[in-house]
Amino acid sequence: MRKKIVAGNWKMNMDYEEGLSLFSEVINMVHDEVTGKQHVVVCSPFIHLHSLAHLAKGYNKVSIGAQNAHQAESGAYTGEISAKMIHSTGAEYVILGHSERRQYFGETNELLAKKIDTALKNSLKPIFCIGETLKERETEKHFEVIKTQLEEGSFHLDAEQFGKLVIAYEPVWAIGTGITATSAQAQEIHMFIRKEIVKKYGQEVAENTTILYGGSCNAKNACDLFGQPDIDGGLIGGASLKSRDFLDIVKEFN
Ligand code: 13P
Repeated sequence: MRKKIVAGNWKMNMDYEEGLSLFSEVINMVHDEVTGKQHVVVCSPFIHLHSLAHLAKGYNKVSIGAQNAHQAESGAYTGEISAKMIHSTGAEYVILGHSERRQYFGETNELLAKKIDTALKNSLKPIFCIGETLKERETEKHFEVIKTQLEEGSFHLDAEQFGKLVIAYEPVWAIGTGITATSAQAQEIHMFIRKEIVKKYGQEVAENTTILYGGSCNAKNACDLFGQPDIDGGLIGGASLKSRDFLDIVKEFN
């Protein structure tokens, strides 16, 4: 059975104290209210990672993740953070290929393939984000774009390595816009992604791959989205910044 995950992506929000206090609320609520098998991942800015990982010790439903990592193992890259450093904080996951990284920092599929390799080598589980822009959807290129992102970013891996990935489908037009993909639109793409994984790695690997939906997901639409057969949870931006909102989404799996 593949893992059901609700992951929060704080993006560039929360100073150190704010982050700690938000996270404390989240783990207490998870402990008190979450009865299902879903797993919670909180992807914070780098400055919080070590403290959050420390707070999360003993809570087996909660893991910590970073939002980016450099592709090199180490070296003269002023201002960058390596996968090994992230792993040393106690974080287990790293978001790679978020559309904001692709858009504002020019991250390409080729670069992301390298980042995925380095993350895996350092025992981090990548949450690999893919998704089309509005223009690509309007011109009906979305399937082709998704396929290329998947192939170029992750299909160089062998089956065992690929099995460590979480895929996140985040249509760019739905991120932070309040416009959510309908559950039918999201399911259509998730099913397509799983079929591509079947073609490359076979049924078993595909059935075990967790595929998350991200883009204006909230407590109101989560139930419908998470009810789809190929949607295994969510990657939550704005709504992960308030503990109650985030937990209400997590609880949609209960
Ligand atoms: P929103 O939930 O704010 O739309 O952001 C989604 C996202 O980008 C998660 O990575």
